[in-house]
Amino acid sequence: MKVREEVLRLLMEEGTLSGGKTAESLGVSRTAVWKAVEELRREGIAIGSVHGGGYRLEDRDRVLSTDAVRAFLRPDKDMDVIFAGSRVDSTNTEALRHLRDGAVPPFVLIAGEQTRGRGRKGRSFYSPRGGLYMTVALPGMIPVTALTGLTAHAALCVCFALEEIARLKPGIKWINDIFLDGKKIAGILTEADVDAESGDARNIRVGIGINTGFGEAAEDCPGMAFLGIPALRPALAARIAADTAAYDTERGLDTGAYKSRSVTLGHRVRLISGGREHEGLAVGVDGNGALILDEDGRKNVLLSGDMVRDIRS
Ligand code: BTN
Repeated sequence: MKVREEVLRLLMEEGTLSGGKTAESLGVSRTAVWKAVEELRREGIAIGSVHGGGYRLEDRDRVLSTDAVRAFLRPDKDMDVIFAGSRVDSTNTEALRHLRDGAVPPFVLIAGEQTRGRGRKGRSFYSPRGGLYMTVALPGMIPVTALTGLTAHAALCVCFALEEIARLKPGIKWINDIFLDGKKIAGILTEADVDAESGDARNIRVGIGINTGFGEAAEDCPGMAFLGIPALRPALAARIAADTAAYDTERGLDTGAYKSRSVTLGHRVRLISGGREHEGLAVGVDGNGALILDEDGRKNVLLSGDMVRDIRS
């Protein structure tokens, strides 16, 4: 990894660092560290000097860039990082433009604000400044029936990252809503171009939005919570992108990990799937991400659905 990326990662993790100690730990000269800091400053990252030859990252909450995300990606990860700017209409839309212009997946496209963030079922997704909005574009074709498993897997990846990097304990509402203490903190919208004849999906875009900002207008969206952790966005984005891209359609979803985080299983739910209303006890999730619903003793396997009501007794 480049010295610049290492220095940026350390600054993001520690806030301040000593030039001498950093040089020693990276096995480079103090001049190399200084040069890296100068490069970062030229890229617009505000780094102040600390008495005694140290450096301080001035506004950690605002740092979101290609370099910042790359600094947290393992060097062996074959994944391009595209920073679409501090504001974009929708990262899913922008990723599709990149794909149509010839960008080669896998890549992750990231923005810090969306003006036309899209949610499931044509809804809009409130995407204020400070949030993490990202789309993981995946290579190749997969059967359209594997998209549910991929989406459920992405939800799991968001949980892993929030648990390990932010020390939170989120839960998943089937299929792909991430909740914390009863409020939604993240959502996922997977889109793809589907070949109607073969049933294969390509140009796959897994769009993930996490409320990492402070939610200045939070009263506009009562069911949502804002985490106030914008400084963690580069680390979260790198981890989620790498894990999401590692989905193996043959192996399918890690159902054990998914079930242990599910806030749906064990509850009676009512949902619309395939144009029909279903009501029953959510008893399981299979390797395709499908919900297993016990409807009066009859087990129904639902690959998609929109929850009308979560009936908790
Ligand atoms: C939902 O909760 O209904 C899904 C929300 C998905 C939002 C993400 S943010 C990044 C990507 N770009 C979009 O326009 N939508 C997804």
